[in-house]
Amino acid sequence: MRLLKQLFWVFVVLGVLSAVILIFTYDIIKIEWISFMEIQPSYRPMEDPLPPPERSIPVEGAIAIPGMPPPENPVEADEASVTRGAELYALHCAMCHGQTAEGNGPVAPFLANKPANLTSSVAQSKSDGSIFLTITNGVDGKMPPLNENLLVPERWDLVNFIRTLAE
Ligand code: HEC
Repeated sequence: MRLLKQLFWVFVVLGVLSAVILIFTYDIIKIEWISFMEIQPSYRPMEDPLPPPERSIPVEGAIAIPGMPPPENPVEADEASVTRGAELYALHCAMCHGQTAEGNGPVAPFLANKPANLTSSVAQSKSDGSIFLTITNGVDGKMPPLNENLLVPERWDLVNFIRTLAE
């Protein structure tokens, strides 16, 4: 009889213990355990990343500072730069703007907005910095931003090449 009583209590204690453990395993009661990965300024999915700190500039140099005029061309328009620009143009721009840059690339007939004629006085009247920003940011709904395809110096090479197209 005594043995039965002892066994009964052993089972009661075991039962309660496993119930408590199960409650935590299945997150019925949730405990925020300290995890060291979390002790850092991190973002959960869907949280907006903060804007870059004030006065910080990209590794490749300032591209455009809001409220400031377009950047100056830091790349000398020598033969090497223009040659690089021509190659990049054939790869990234010619399908829309055309081999001769007159806005007549193979893709142009399918676009709702016709690509600009880069040899025209209108396009050539833009400053180097303004052409650079067009390549960087694209033209809303008309030309895609190419900042992810082209490094900053490559974009300046393109500007130098486009300058050689003036009629
Ligand atoms: C998907 C086609 C497409 C590609 C690729 C493209 N462009 Fe354009 N681009 C356009 C269109 C369309 C316009 C005309 C936008 C408008 O009507 O304002 C334009 C306009 C421009 C302008 C004139 C912007 C202005 O201020 O009037 C420049 C300069 C230019 N593109 C340069 C480039 C260069 C350099 C490349 C390659 C690195 C390039 N584009 C690639 C479609 C393209």
